[in-house]
Amino acid sequence: MAGFLSSRHRLLTVGVVVLLALALAGCRSLPFAADAPEIPMTTVYPTSPEGVEIQNLYNLIFWLSVFVFVAVNAVMFYAIYRFRARPGDRLPEQTHGNNRLEIAWTIAPAVVLAIMGVPTITTIFRAAAPPPANALKVSVVGHQWWWEFQYPDLNITTANEVHVVAGRTTSFELTSADIIHSFWFPKWTGKLDVVPNHLNVLNVTPEVPGVYYGQCVEFCGTQHANMKMRAVVHANQAEFDAWARSQQAPAVAATQATQAGAQIATTTCAACHTIGGTTAAGKIGPDLTHFGSRLTVAAGMLDNTPENLARWIQDPQAVKPGNKMPNLNLTEQQVADVTAYLLSLK
Ligand code: CUA
Repeated sequence: MAGFLSSRHRLLTVGVVVLLALALAGCRSLPFAADAPEIPMTTVYPTSPEGVEIQNLYNLIFWLSVFVFVAVNAVMFYAIYRFRARPGDRLPEQTHGNNRLEIAWTIAPAVVLAIMGVPTITTIFRAAAPPPANALKVSVVGHQWWWEFQYPDLNITTANEVHVVAGRTTSFELTSADIIHSFWFPKWTGKLDVVPNHLNVLNVTPEVPGVYYGQCVEFCGTQHANMKMRAVVHANQAEFDAWARSQQAPAVAATQATQAGAQIATTTCAACHTIGGTTAAGKIGPDLTHFGSRLTVAAGMLDNTPENLARWIQDPQAVKPGNKMPNLNLTEQQVADVTAYLLSLK
């Protein structure tokens, strides 16, 4: 009997060690997000002080929870093993109530909750604090299914791609043209809802230059998953200013090569799109004034290449079913002309 018990004991020990080894193997150490473009949607390596603060809070709560889990289970398994019924045992002494224990297990959780609660509340208030006076102001308008970005102080309107400066706080003023969306750049900081007829403000100070991936994170219809965006964090103010000047300029004038496309864009496309410096002033779809400078087509779905853009203009519903851009039944030549013109709008 003793031999059987000890071999079962050994089996249990080996099992626990194997499980622990497997669990630890899952925790491979990751580089800091700045050096990890291969994980574009990670939240655990934030690149802004606002994100770091939330991550620190998360770490505190996570490790406290681990401590509580391990402590409770250790005591429970000790009790199960140490006080298990053995053959011949008499009924143990029956007790009811223990004031010292009752007080202890009321105070201990209250202390744990206070350790979590105080920093949680201070973080919430800091996240909701007004931005510094020199913050870059960006109005964000959610649309089914694309993002509009306006810089009210710079007179710039763009779509699906927002440019900011490393080390300078950007104040995103979020609102929606239709239904509720949610604004999220996972590597920066937490997400915030984008609500019609209501202003939400998200302040973030991106510290690491580069291109970041963003995503709508509130279900908003069939193309919710394709309501993506990019952020370009410029290394310094001068680099950002150069971008801003290029965006403030009117659209590049059509040349002989792009004249045919410009003709279609400023008539057919103008029903929905604005192209600054031309007669196209539609307000339904994205502003196309500097479309050629953008990284993607169809709100982050496709890279902005001539092939992808032509595919999109030829039949937008085949690429992104349900979106508001109709099939304009353009001929292949017309599609090529519009593509050439739009890509010339750097
Ligand atoms: Cu917009 Cu989901």
